[in-house]
Amino acid sequence: MNYRHAFHAGNFADLVKHAALLQLLARLTATPGPLTVIDTHAGRGVYDLAGAEAQRSGEAEGGIGRLMAAKDAPAAFDGLIAAVRALNAGGEGRRYPGSPWLIAHALRRGDRCLACELRPDEHKALQAALGAWPNAQALCADGFRTAVQRTPRDARALVLIDPPFERADDYPRIIETSAAILERNRRSHLMIWLPLKDLATFDAFLGDFEDAVGRPALVAETRLRPLSDPLKMNGCALVFVNPPADLADALEAICTWTAQACGEAGEGRVYEA
Ligand SMILES: C[S@@+](CC[C@H](N)C(=O)[O-])C[C@H]1O[C@@H](n2cnc3c(N)ncnc32)[C@H](O)[C@@H]1O
Repeated sequence: MNYRHAFHAGNFADLVKHAALLQLLARLTATPGPLTVIDTHAGRGVYDLAGAEAQRSGEAEGGIGRLMAAKDAPAAFDGLIAAVRALNAGGEGRRYPGSPWLIAHALRRGDRCLACELRPDEHKALQAALGAWPNAQALCADGFRTAVQRTPRDARALVLIDPPFERADDYPRIIETSAAILERNRRSHLMIWLPLKDLATFDAFLGDFEDAVGRPALVAETRLRPLSDPLKMNGCALVFVNPPADLADALEAICTWTAQACGEAGEGRVYEA
């Protein structure tokens, strides 16, 4: 496992994923009844944008740097901007929140967060990042397996699946894990992050996903540029199962703004597959 999210924290893909996650959580926590959120691939929780990895890649500058300076960002980013300010004691600062920090920050007292991270060094940092929230637990465990074992059978649940895609079996594992979670609790909400390199890979994933899961998915694509060079990350996609009815408009605003602000002739697309 070579992947370190510290190189990518706060990039365009994190903006899309994290703004969308907060939009989803705002809707799920506005509904009565405790919610369990499982973050299958949590990372370290908080990232230092002045650290060596972030400085070396420079990716945050073109992502969160651009968003915090923007005058035209849509309201769908308000939650993410507020979270970044909260983590940096009101300022725009050097610290960037990862998905488990955002989840713990957004949940109510009676809700619960299980965050899985397989790398021991990242897991140790994650434990510290979640230390302020007694209802958030950092597990040093395989996120795919844990999500299937720990999704509540008859209570409200959201599972975020955000693997590093450094292993060829990440795509099939997403599909089999999603199907198993929905078999355990058919009302579970799923949110999955995927890279967009070429259309053939993504279309094949969507076809296999639909066959295994057997229900429509809401797809939000952020294309930074035409998907013509399969060796490049040309954008990213989010796939949702059982999304709240009014999520699509917020996703459209997030993907379109990010594609235009961070891409070259970029476009956002939201559709049911
Ligand atoms: C893309 S990063 C996660 C970023 C995080 N979700 C966020 O948005 O802030 C993927 C993380 O998953 C971890 N990882 C890889 N395979 C895993 C597995 N099977 N179970 C749990 N964590 C895993 C990696 O060490 C890495 O920290």
